[in-house]
Amino acid sequence: MYVCVCNAVTERHIVAAVREGATTLRHLRRDLGVTAECGRCARCAHDCLRSALAEHNSTSEASTPMFARPMFPLALEAV
Ligand code: FES
Repeated sequence: MYVCVCNAVTERHIVAAVREGATTLRHLRRDLGVTAECGRCARCAHDCLRSALAEHNSTSEASTPMFARPMFPLALEAV
């Protein structure tokens, strides 16, 4: 599905950007041009970003040994 029509950005592009390290809408704008034109895609892009981050974090946690995980991941994300 297209998320940003102005820049032909799809959900797959956002998932790929998250795999490359994007964690904010600002990163998506920098990397993909999302919201850089009309801005109508902001809400959908944000929702896709959250979904992609949740999926990415759940798969990375599953493949990370328990001893290598931070003890307080939510606190670390806020810093
Ligand atoms: S739809 Fe994304 S900038 Fe217009």
